[in-house]
Formats: sequence, structure tokens, C-alpha cells
Amino acid sequence: MRHLRTMDDLSDREIFSLIEEALEFQQGKSWVPNEQYFVTNLFYESSTRTKCSFEVAERKLGLSVLPFEVSTSSVNKGESLYDTAKTLESLGVHALVIRHPEEEFFQPLQNLNLSIINGGDGCGHHPTQSLLDLMTIYQEYGKFEGLQITIIGDIRHSRVARSNTAVLKRLGANVKFVAPEEWKDSSYEEQDYITMEEAIKTSDVVMLLRIQHERHEKKNELIELYHQQYGLTLEREKQMKPTSIIMHPAPINRGVEIATELVECKRSRIFKQMENGLYMRMAVLKRVLTKNEGGTNNDNITKEWEMA
Ligand code: CP
Repeated sequence: MRHLRTMDDLSDREIFSLIEEALEFQQGKSWVPNEQYFVTNLFYESSTRTKCSFEVAERKLGLSVLPFEVSTSSVNKGESLYDTAKTLESLGVHALVIRHPEEEFFQPLQNLNLSIINGGDGCGHHPTQSLLDLMTIYQEYGKFEGLQITIIGDIRHSRVARSNTAVLKRLGANVKFVAPEEWKDSSYEEQDYITMEEAIKTSDVVMLLRIQHERHEKKNELIELYHQQYGLTLEREKQMKPTSIIMHPAPINRGVEIATELVECKRSRIFKQMENGLYMRMAVLKRVLTKNEGGTNNDNITKEWEMA
């Protein structure tokens, strides 16, 4: 794996291999790079979880992290993303983690002699969020095949929904949506949308999405009624299956997508997702940096799912 731009960069085998490696990092496995690797995090959009977990992951792996803040860089003098990336390539940086408001920002960068890890491109894709979500679901159920996973909320503007839907369907999950009419994504079938009542009663994973206020052209009157119509209320949580879990990529609009009392309830995996993000990002960084080192990738897969 040279780049991680979208989940399409990963085969099923690579996905399971990354989950296995992330779980090993979580259990305390260490990795010592056999050369000095330089990494830079370029965040052109706000982030807490993705930016901080990549930074912790990079330090845990002993990588050399070049400090870079868009607000104090030559981006302020009008330097383009390509010229910024080309400059860092000239300095010998091996990998860039990039979050950018433009969809597919990575297209002009993919022939540079460094690896690109997409930390979120506009409404496009968020592959490391998707991988940490897969890790969280796999830890819970040990499989994806046959699970009912319902993604609820602002489907149209959500890169998390886009990345997760494609890969979860590929891995055999039954993915459904609940969304207000305004936030339905027309690339999905109308019959893939179900009612909130059905979602709550039948889902193994209730995956809530943040309302992407910053991507809406106008303030939506719907917000006032959202919690009542589409939010996970205390009453709805009581109707969930005993083994079902709650996920949300965060940040959370408490009292809107989810009742504040449920954010840390027994079935919530929201903070587990954040913890898993650290270990998954360690696995991703190791994988892109060792792409040319024979034998350092996790190729000795022995798990049941690899035999399938
Ligand atoms: N889930 C997620 O991407 O969070 P941040 O925007 O804080 O990185």
C-alpha cells in the first residue's frame, strides 16, 4: 500500500491484516523502524481526533514528525497544496497525512515520491475513520457478514458514511440508512432508507453521524426537531437489541444526534472508537512506510477470515 486515499486502495485481505496489526499494537506490540522516517500532518480543516491520534501514533512508532500548522505556513502566502507537498518531498519527507476541504485533493499528489494518507477530503472519504470503525465492529462481533448496520443522520455530507457504506457492503454487512429527506444521498437506493423505528429495533450497530453544519448552505429549520425525529433518545435506546452497540465518529452534538446520558452508556463504543483510532493509525503508518521493505508487512495471516 503506497497511499491510503479511499477504502478502494485496500483489498479485503489488507483490511483484515490492518485490523490484526492494530489489535496487536493495542496489546502492546512495538515496532522499531529500520530507518529514520519523516512524516508531516497537513490539516487544512479543523480536527481533534484524527490530528491528535496521528500525532500520538507517529510518536509511539518513533517517527520524526515535522511540525506544520497551516495557519503559520506559506499556505498563508498563497502556496498551493501541490507546491507544499512538493516542497516536503524535496526535504525527504516520507509520508503526508492530509485533511483538506476539497474532495479528492490527493489526485494531483499521487505521483510525488512520498505516501499520502487521506485524513478526510471534504464530503468525500475518511478511510482511517472507516478502518477504526471496522476494528471496533470486528472487536465486538468478530465478523461483518450478516450484521445489520444502520447509519443515521446527515448521509449526504458525510465522508464517514461514504467510506463505511462501500466497505461494509463489500465485507457482507447489510447497510441501511435513516435520514431526513434533505440529507439523503441519492447515490443510494430509496429502499435502503428505513424508518427510525425499524433501525432502532433491528440494528446490530446504530451508527450516528454528526450534523455537518459547516457544509450546509443555509441553516436548516430541521435542527430544532432533529433529536425528537432522528436522535438516539433515552426511550429509543431502551428498544435496541440487548447486544447492539452505538457508534458515532464524533465530535458529537450532545442532545441532538444522541442524548447526553447515552454518550458514555454501556452500549456506547464512541470513546472505544477513538482509542482504536490510535492503534489503527499506527498500523496504517507502518504499512505505508514499509511498503518497500520485504517481510515487514503483516503477511503471515493465520486468522479464520483469511482462509475464506
Ligand atoms: N472523527 C473525526 O474525524 O474527528 P475529527 O474531526 O476531530 O478529526
